Amino acid sequence: MTDLRPDRLLYEGKAKQVYAADSADEIVIHYKDDATAFNGVKKAQIADKGVINCKLSAFFMEKMAAAGVPTAFLKQVGPRDQLCRKVEIIPVELVVRNVVAGSLAKRLGRPEGEKLARPLLEHFYKSDELNDPQINEDGAILMGYAKAWELAAMREYALTVNDALRAFWDSLGVELVDFKLEFGRYHGQVVLADEITPDGSRLWERATGRKLDKDVFRRDLGDLSETYRELYSRVFGEALR
Ligand SMILES: Nc1ncnc2c1ncn2[C@@H]1O[C@H](COP(=O)(O)OP(=O)(O)OP(=O)(O)O)[C@@H](O)[C@H]1O
Ligand SMILES: [Mg+2]
Repeated sequence: MTDLRPDRLLYEGKAKQVYAADSADEIVIHYKDDATAFNGVKKAQIADKGVINCKLSAFFMEKMAAAGVPTAFLKQVGPRDQLCRKVEIIPVELVVRNVVAGSLAKRLGRPEGEKLARPLLEHFYKSDELNDPQINEDGAILMGYAKAWELAAMREYALTVNDALRAFWDSLGVELVDFKLEFGRYHGQVVLADEITPDGSRLWERATGRKLDKDVFRRDLGDLSETYRELYSRVFGEALR
């Protein structure tokens, strides 16, 4: 197994560390327990979040590959570690929305919980300094952040991911409100990268409307560690440890 020596650390993000792997074409992504909100303004350690998100993301990435979406994920190599293809991240994040919430509600003054007639795709320029501003496809092409064909592939994959994820959560009595995806370039192909976790998704318990995602932390609604443990049990049919 690849060891995570400090001299192999390539990048430290807010929720994960990225390490060089034995092959130059691959990396190891290490999931930390750190939670942040509002672009790092609010921070906390959430017990077991790294372990839970690592396993959930691995599970969902395998599901997406089975649904026909190429992904960077290769395999889980430790409780918090994944071996992934090393991609060039496309600096355009995609948000898929099924229900109005969060920044969309704020921006357009719509009530949270309003159902959308079809999935809404929103693009954001990935820039911590600028706070990930929204951008449209035309802008992303003009500024050189992505090619038109890449954005088209991202759109198609994002909608496939939405269909598959939505059906899965639905079967567990959970509504997939929205989620964020990152894509990368790998040998001339666009692939789904980064993570699919409750950090970057909104998940509402259908029967009660209770939030089962990072909004619990953002909005001080309860214990995020407990919430994530509950999600883990629902998905894997057994409690963590
Ligand atoms: N397969 C991959 N190959 C290369 N880089 C990746 C891959 N998957 C994810 N990344 C990048 O690794 C980093 C993961 O760290 P983390 O998610 O903690 O970052 P972050 O704090 O959210 O910041 P940011 O995403 O803005 O860099 C991100 O920059 C992400 O874009
Ligand atoms: Mg991230």
